[in-house]
Amino acid sequence: MAKKINPTQKAWLIGLHLIFVAAWVGSSFVLLMLSLLSLYSGSQTVLLAVPSIMHAIDLLVIIPGTIGIIVTGVVLSLLTHWGIKKYYWVIVKEISTLFLAALGGVWLAPLVLRAVELSSNQGVSALTDPEYLLIHKKILLTSGIIIPLLLGMIFISKLKPWGKVKRKEKPAAAKA
Ligand code: HEM
Repeated sequence: MAKKINPTQKAWLIGLHLIFVAAWVGSSFVLLMLSLLSLYSGSQTVLLAVPSIMHAIDLLVIIPGTIGIIVTGVVLSLLTHWGIKKYYWVIVKEISTLFLAALGGVWLAPLVLRAVELSSNQGVSALTDPEYLLIHKKILLTSGIIIPLLLGMIFISKLKPWGKVKRKEKPAAAKA
């Protein structure tokens, strides 16, 4: 694809990319805090309210943030010299982002939904349901995996390590 953006356009696109990054990283910290709060606050009101708050954060911030990061990241790669498969740092970010998106969508979101279901069905008695407490521990553990990976990607984006992917030279065309 032809390289079409000038430095000002690139700066705007990076700014947009970073807004989505901030949304994803920020909400992951909030999820971590909420799961810590529900496990250790000892407050029934908190424990019962937290799943609905987590669900809202997931729907309104994390999902749009993840889609926004992927779209702006891929567009940035395609419209600059970085490309989508030319540099190891870009490939590592793509794989890690897809892994985190899958972890959020396939593992974390169903856990949050189940917690919402248990707390609305059982009310206060959910607090003595081992499944409900286990779900909060799993959410805590998952946030503990997601956050370091996201922070690692911020450093990778700044340092751009590992260089360029080496491609095999095509054999020169045989002389006639
Ligand atoms: C599909 C996934 C992603 C792709 C393809 C992608 C690609 C890119 C590209 C091409 C740039 C421009 C680099 C430059 O010209 O300096 C960039 C910037 C950046 N990206 Fe991503 N990105 C992705 C996901 C992420 C994620 C998940 C994070 C963090 C959690 C992140 C954090 C950053 C940061 C902090 C910058 C600014 C780097 C700087 O100013 O030097 N990106 N990204």
